[in-house]
Order: sequence, then C-alpha cells, then structure tokens
Amino acid sequence: MRIVLLGAPGSGKGTQGERLAKHLGVPHIASGELLREQVAAGTDLGRAVAAHLARGDLVPDDVVLAIVGEAVAHAAQSGGYVLDGFPRTRAQAERAFLLARPNGLDADAAVYLALDDDIARSRLAGRAGGGRTDDDAAVVDHRLQVFHDNMRPILEFYGARGILVTVDASLPVDDVTAAILEQVPPAAA
Ligand code: AP5
Repeated sequence: MRIVLLGAPGSGKGTQGERLAKHLGVPHIASGELLREQVAAGTDLGRAVAAHLARGDLVPDDVVLAIVGEAVAHAAQSGGYVLDGFPRTRAQAERAFLLARPNGLDADAAVYLALDDDIARSRLAGRAGGGRTDDDAAVVDHRLQVFHDNMRPILEFYGARGILVTVDASLPVDDVTAAILEQVPPAAA
C-alpha cells in the first residue's frame, strides 16, 4: 500500500502518518523530518536547507527529490509506504509519478487532511516551544500561505488520477485515522 498524505501545516500528516504506517506495517517517510535530520546533523545539505526551513519556505524540488526519492523507491519495492509532506508542488507530484509509474510503484491513494487555518494555527501554537523553530506564529502564517499557494494543483493532479480522498482533519485523532482507513481500505491496494 502506497499512501501520500496531503494537508496544511498542523493538519495531522505526521500524527496520522505514524499511525497508518504502524497499522499497515510499512515505513512512515516524512520529508520534513528527513530535512530536519540533515540540519541537525550539520551536513552540507542540512546547511543548504536550514534557512528555507526556518523561514517556512519550500526547499528546492531537486533537493527534496534527492532526499525523499531514495527512501520512497526503497520502501515502494518492499511493500509500500506512508509518505507525509511530499509532494508540496505540482512539479514534485509529476516528477515522482514519472519516476515511479514505469515500475508500477506510483501512489495508490492520496489522502487530503482538510482543516481550517484557524484550527491549524491553534494546534501549532500549542506545539510552539517544542523544538520546531518554524512554529513561531509569523512563520506559521507564512507556511499556511505557501500551502495555499501550492495545494490546489496538487489536489487536481491526484483528483484527475482518481485516487484522491478527502478527510475532515478537525476530528479527534482516532476518528481521523478511522475515516482514512474507511476510505482507503488496505485491501484496495
Ligand atoms: P513538514 O515537516 O512537512 O511540516 P508541515 O507541513 O508544516 O507540517 P507539520 O509537521 O507542522 O504538521 P502536520 O500536518 O505533520 O501535523 P502534526 O501531525 O505534526 O515541513 C517542514 C518544512 O520542511 C517545510 O516548511 C519546508 O521548508 C520543508 N519541506 C518539507 N517537505 C518539503 C517538500 N516536499 N518540498 C519542499 N520543502 C519541504 O500535528 C500538529 C499538531 O497538531 C501536533 O501537536 C499534534 O499533536 C496535533 N494534532 C494532530 N492531529 C490532531 C487532531 N486530530 N486533533 C487535535 N490535535 C491534533
């Protein structure tokens, strides 16, 4: 089962990604986590992307594809994945599709976690101080803006492929997980 989780900052991609991956017995791959690990480790790549993360701007597509692509390709060949935080642009979605499609390893489902900005802001305000420097209120506003600037073409891309499902992400965590599993039954993979 290969699932892509889409949604605004604070919509629960990380929370649901972890739960779904456990439930399905596949790896949870989070692009933001992979990037933050590079920053924390002080690698060349980490130094190159640190300012983008701090500002809440997207990291260039080539960098993200290099870092996420390998993990996704490996997981796709060995049973599947739950991918959170990627794609963030239509170009990322198209490039990932072109790479995976010839091997029959493109996503089975794209789950959009729909949430009002005000709820997202209040969730991230609740998390502020927990180590994510981009949870500062001004940066959160910018992350939400970046999300709105990019998400519609991505939803259209997956909608046209007939694999997009939308879930109300304002529900309690357990209910969101149940709603995803109801709409994307593992047997459908
Ligand atoms: P990334 O790490 O992907 O962050 P994000 O999209 O801003 O999302 P968050 O991690 O803040 O939220 P989430 O949706 O995962 O929600 P969570 O489960 O944590 O990206 C960070 C940065 O990396 C980007 O800004 C960019 O710079 C770069 N980047 C990453 N991917 C990239 C890409 N593909 N291309 C280019 N750049 C990229 O939950 C949030 C909070 O809400 C938690 O406290 C949680 O406990 C709570 N919560 C979750 N669900 C519920 C619920 N149902 N009810 C109540 N509370 C809930």
